[in-house]
Amino acid sequence: MHYGPPGMKILGIETSCDETAAAIVADEAPRIRANLVLSQVAEHAEYGGIVPEIAARAHLETLDRLVTRAFAVAGVGLDAIDGVAVAGGPGLIGGVMVGVMLAKGLALARGVPFLAVNHLEAHALTARLTDDVPFPFLLLLVSGGHCQLLIVEEVGRYRRLGTTLDDAAGECFDKGAKLLGLGFPGGPLIERAAERGDPRRFLLPRPLRGRSGANFSFSGLKTALRERVVKLGGTAALDPGTVADLAASLQAAIADTLADRTTHAIAEFKARHPGGRHLVLSGGVAANGPIRRQIDALAARHGLSSVAPPIDLCTDNGAMIAWAGLERLRAGFKDGLDFAPRPRWPLDASAVRVRGAGVKA
Ligand code: KG4
Ligand code: ZN
Repeated sequence: MHYGPPGMKILGIETSCDETAAAIVADEAPRIRANLVLSQVAEHAEYGGIVPEIAARAHLETLDRLVTRAFAVAGVGLDAIDGVAVAGGPGLIGGVMVGVMLAKGLALARGVPFLAVNHLEAHALTARLTDDVPFPFLLLLVSGGHCQLLIVEEVGRYRRLGTTLDDAAGECFDKGAKLLGLGFPGGPLIERAAERGDPRRFLLPRPLRGRSGANFSFSGLKTALRERVVKLGGTAALDPGTVADLAASLQAAIADTLADRTTHAIAEFKARHPGGRHLVLSGGVAANGPIRRQIDALAARHGLSSVAPPIDLCTDNGAMIAWAGLERLRAGFKDGLDFAPRPRWPLDASAVRVRGAGVKA
């Protein structure tokens, strides 16, 4: 194991989806020196989803100023940086290219290591930034683009136990919110609407429940919700009480599905790593209170401690990229300036590619 210089600081850049983010993270407390996130929600809202071309252009227009501000917030200059980390994929390629080109330029100008970080690895390692979780740990990574159960064995070594056969859990929240006329992004809006709803009024399916393995599927749930809405007369005909009940029913179905699949993954994790003690929840959907509580309870029943980073570090951010870069640099990894952005980049390259999950990971 190689260790970098004490007091190491890394600049992290994230542009793989619809958040433009820049952060400076140090290996000494306080670790997070700056963490700025510029959301593009307003740019994409009228389309009800992310438009890749608009995302790339927005990253290009804002990233350099955001990086400059991150240095100002951290109170350091470019000369204080020991490496530049960037999300090199998986994600929307136009956006990834914007971040990668700036990161390469800064690393080249300063003569410091360039680190191309897998966006999923950054989500995976966030619990070590915030809670120093030791390897190995089980990870439930749930976001808009990904839904996976992985064993994180060490930096750069991941074993995928399950992935989605179709949609990610976050997509199910987003598409569900659209069907309910709530807007975008759907997760927080469904969570808020569900607070006043009855999760038992509409019985929605729990896809794959009880089946062996740890894969996920959400398309049947989405279809069931759509059929319900049609039966009720369509989106425009829903009254606020019904919207709340449907939101609560959808959220409960997603939470139960995540918990059921995680139960299987816990059994496999324990069989492979009897000494493993932690279940980590990460990705945007981990911001959901009821899901966090259900996964906490599940972990406790199986003798595991559950860890979920604070909400602003669960959703896309630059600090997670900088931290993953810092961990990679410490472990002796760095990348060449010939690195090519990767739209698709599985964390566990040996995992079988499943139907429908090929777009990203
Ligand atoms: O990790 P993230 O910021 O971006 C991706 O890498 O995909 O995750 C975004 C996803 C969106 O689908 C959003 O609806 C979902 O996370 N999300 C939530 C909540 N906050 C964000 N889902 C459920 N409940 C929330 N409170
Ligand atoms: Zn993400």
